[in-house]
Amino acid sequence: MERKNFLKNFAVGGSILLASPMLFNACSKDEDMGNNNDPGGSSPITVDLTASAYAALGTVGGYAYKGNIMVFRTGENNYLALSKICTHQGCDVTYSHADGNVPCPCHGSKYTTAGVVINGPATANLKKYSVSKNGDVLTIS
Ligand code: FES
Repeated sequence: MERKNFLKNFAVGGSILLASPMLFNACSKDEDMGNNNDPGGSSPITVDLTASAYAALGTVGGYAYKGNIMVFRTGENNYLALSKICTHQGCDVTYSHADGNVPCPCHGSKYTTAGVVINGPATANLKKYSVSKNGDVLTIS
């Protein structure tokens, strides 16, 4: 009886131990804030323009988010990237091609496409990133 219980517990415990690295990796890769949020860190991030998640960037005036960065298309071959986190209280900013600025939907702050505050209540600028394009891939650093 004891041996049977030992083998049963060993089998359950072993299964959990084998599965745990997969569970931890699944979370850590998708939520790697350093990779998605700070291209100024160890490595730049890339945006594949052929991916469906970035289909909006196929049109001038479109924008999409990657991690905490908003990438937006201001012209035929002109892409910009700013932090998407409004410096007032952290809402996601958007891009208004018609107005040529970056509004926040929460309390009305607006930024230039360079990330400079033009209308409060935000008082601090958005972080701006460099964007380069090679084929269908944007590199943000
Ligand atoms: S969070 Fe953007 S204006 Fe308040």
